[in-house]
Amino acid sequence: MPRTTVYVCSQCGLQSAQWHGQCPGCEEWNTLVEERVRAGARDARPPRGGSRQGPRPVVRPLREVGASAVARMPTGIGELDRVLGGGLVPGSLVLLGGAPGIGKSTLTNMVLAHLQKAGRSTLYVSGEESAEQVRLRAERLLLDGEDPARPSAAALSVPVLAETDLDSVLAALTEEAPDACVIDSVQTLCAGELSGAPGSVGQVREVAGRIMALAKAQRTAVILVGHVTKDGALAGPRVLEHLVDCVLQFEGERERPYRELRALKNRFGSTNEAGLFEMRQGGLVEVLDASARFVAEATRAPGSVVLAAMEGSRPLLVEVQALVAHSELEQPRRVVSGLDRNRLALVLAILARHGGVRTGGCDVFVNVVGGVRLEERGCDLAVALSVASATRGVAIAGTPRACFGELGLTGELRWVGHPERRLEEAARHGLHDVIAPAASGAGACEAATLRDALVAALPAAARKGAASGGKRAAPRGAEPLAA
Ligand code: TYD
Ligand code: MG
Repeated sequence: MPRTTVYVCSQCGLQSAQWHGQCPGCEEWNTLVEERVRAGARDARPPRGGSRQGPRPVVRPLREVGASAVARMPTGIGELDRVLGGGLVPGSLVLLGGAPGIGKSTLTNMVLAHLQKAGRSTLYVSGEESAEQVRLRAERLLLDGEDPARPSAAALSVPVLAETDLDSVLAALTEEAPDACVIDSVQTLCAGELSGAPGSVGQVREVAGRIMALAKAQRTAVILVGHVTKDGALAGPRVLEHLVDCVLQFEGERERPYRELRALKNRFGSTNEAGLFEMRQGGLVEVLDASARFVAEATRAPGSVVLAAMEGSRPLLVEVQALVAHSELEQPRRVVSGLDRNRLALVLAILARHGGVRTGGCDVFVNVVGGVRLEERGCDLAVALSVASATRGVAIAGTPRACFGELGLTGELRWVGHPERRLEEAARHGLHDVIAPAASGAGACEAATLRDALVAALPAAARKGAASGGKRAAPRGAEPLAA
């Protein structure tokens, strides 16, 4: 029987009949991936010299290429539609990644329920759970605008297939030809020709490739669910990122109710948008006015600062909290959540050098409240002020207040995008006093440098040194602020 698979090195392209830990060609380790031998692949290659049989390929200017406007299918979940750029595109492939238990199955179930309710045909392929388990989840879902007395009517009308064999799934997809299909998850499907375990690089690539070919041919929008590893990378599916049209990341802390959906890649829209959800009884609920909630929850205690951030094109007020405590360790801890760790190191260095707030002997913890992840430079000032406030043990003066701005290495406060929208959002929630970089516009309390911002934010006594009363003494290792 002719061989149906080969092992191909993903570095040098060497083909081998056997798997090797180290590629015999380029001597790289763990690069051999199992692939299916395509029938006739060898004969299809054009002969050397270039002459080729069959019709001549046609090259034409772009303006002569027919392109109809992309007709999108709104999913009925506003936050998801915004991240996708307006809805699912027929024939497109979306990869949805996230840690176990974050709510991927819940979200995709809800998407199909909404589409089904809107009169679209759908299919939910579950490789992880049995059909009964999927039903039990669907029974818990309550969609927007649904009668609480008769919940999950739409969710229960979604056709489900519990199957892990790729050929059976493809057969069902061909038969049903749905408008939208969810594969939960891509790591559980198994192509029979390949010997690799489900979830291995070769398997995942083969599964996604064949589903994509079929989806494009019959214009089915497919959502592939994928797991992420502990360190946050899409395990296995990482190799799919170039193949799919859109990569969505679903994240948040499992213990907290907030979930954030981001696009890492989007061929049909922007990657700046983020959607915010809350996991509740009844499924995921869109958080429409997150700012109001975060501002109301802000403690305004020492170490707490409200940041006027931008989440894509949308302003968002979030609370940044810091704790600075004397460290017992030789190498004090720097723990962040919702921020880049290196950015904290940079802010601490700038704070020490240009703000006179030294945290050398202290453990520093910084947290963006609510499980939100900040990916913009505009958060530097909030981090600096929260650490300064925590170090001094005094709350930000004149609360309620907000701030934003990027810190430069020479201690200057730099302009960041959309100051007017940030100020507007802050004012809308009663924060009229916003510390912001120069040229941020009317209404901002402008500061040219970190030092100016500290002067504006901390009461004079806190700037001169540790509070003399002893009650709010600064942790050991922290030094007075040279005002
Ligand atoms: P799930 O969608 O299965 O996560 P994933 O597919 O990403 O692994 O569910 C995540 C969690 O959400 C699960 O632990 C239970 C919880 N949940 C609710 O709190 N409310 C609900 O209505 C549903 C359906 C789930
Ligand atoms: Mg799941």
